Amino acid sequence: MAVLPFYGTAEPERFALERRAMDRPGRVLARLDELLPRTGSVLDVGAGDGWTAGHLAGDGRHVLAVEPAAGMAAQAEPHPAVTWVRGEAGALPLADGTMDAAFATWAYFFPSAIDPSRGLAELHRVVRPGGRIVIVSNGGDDELTGLGVASGGEDPGWFADRGFDVEVVATAFGFDGEDPDAVRDLLARYVGDPDRVPEEPPTRLGHRVLIATSPSAGPPRIRVRGMRHHEAPRVGEITLAGYDAYGEIEGDYRRYLRDPGARIDGSTSVLVAEVEGRVVGTVTFVLPHDEGWEGRAEPDGDAMFRVLAVDPTVEGAGVGRALVDACVQRAGELGCRRILIVSMAWMDRAHRLYERLGFARRPDLDVRFPAGDGYVFTLDLSSDAADHFTPPGPPVDPRPWYADVWR
Ligand SMILES: C[S@@+](CC[C@H](N)C(=O)[O-])C[C@H]1O[C@@H](n2cnc3c(N)ncnc32)[C@H](O)[C@@H]1O
Repeated sequence: MAVLPFYGTAEPERFALERRAMDRPGRVLARLDELLPRTGSVLDVGAGDGWTAGHLAGDGRHVLAVEPAAGMAAQAEPHPAVTWVRGEAGALPLADGTMDAAFATWAYFFPSAIDPSRGLAELHRVVRPGGRIVIVSNGGDDELTGLGVASGGEDPGWFADRGFDVEVVATAFGFDGEDPDAVRDLLARYVGDPDRVPEEPPTRLGHRVLIATSPSAGPPRIRVRGMRHHEAPRVGEITLAGYDAYGEIEGDYRRYLRDPGARIDGSTSVLVAEVEGRVVGTVTFVLPHDEGWEGRAEPDGDAMFRVLAVDPTVEGAGVGRALVDACVQRAGELGCRRILIVSMAWMDRAHRLYERLGFARRPDLDVRFPAGDGYVFTLDLSSDAADHFTPPGPPVDPRPWYADVWR
């Protein structure tokens, strides 16, 4: 996910000047204070050096500051009602519905520069239904853009189309009392051309600020069910898109991924995840006696899932998790003692999901495919699982061929 370049770690003094100067009359801060709940847990996405978080926290309002850039939390003025977490907007390290509200000030939500849809889905997921989401960005067409700032304003329509109420607050950068050379330097960075910054820098620059506010819809409702025959082409399309998000897949494997029909063997089930009536993910659930199991030794009580793919446009919204949960639940209901996944070594985002869901990485069971290494992850489903399967051992070097272990 896009973490935007940010200079605050390398140049903390320049960033501190920017923060002192921005919204000097405090109008944006005052509006945020009105819009956010007085008490409860409020998320600040892309918190920078905690300037805004520190001003809004306290008196029963706790701010959780999430920031991807290294070292920013250390630059923050410690505050008893601000907690710092390293993370980024597109994959918030928070459970569903745990925040009472969220805000982002001039961070990540710049639809003119990147598509922040994934971050927006994350805000809806982590803020409880009905809790407020407030996004602050540049309105453009003001004295700041008059200087020739490269990035102008954001389109209010982008926010309105996504259910936000949009208002514009007139505030200003104030440079009174600041070192003129440092001000010139900051403005030159904004404009991208030092010659366009007046010799005598301004003490005030009008700034129109866009504030977009919306109630959270809560996490999307994800339903997992069996694939219907007519959905096969869509499932093939999602599967390829999900795998191609890691790098272009080629050859026979590509043909196999495109055709979910090839995975419906015996009682093997191809499942789909649906969000608001749209199929957005798929997984294939397999039991030892299915033809799709491929006859691995030691299958007693084992279940497996394979070919898990999520439409990249909804990645990070909990679809992968819902698909794995459905397989785990099904395996549990069928009395399986363990569930296993063999995943291509390069699918690092999927591996992080499996580990978050409690799967253990088992390098001793890894295999090799013609297209690369297969990593094995297992999750025990019964308390006697350990008595039924080979205990973890050292990795086998070189990894055996998949066909030698599984057929
Ligand atoms: C201009 S600063 C604003 C900081 C702070 N919100 C404030 O108002 O002072 C932009 C911030 O966005 C953060 N940022 C960039 N990409 C991000 C992402 N993908 N997720 C969350 N924050 C991000 C940067 O690290 C930086 O802290």
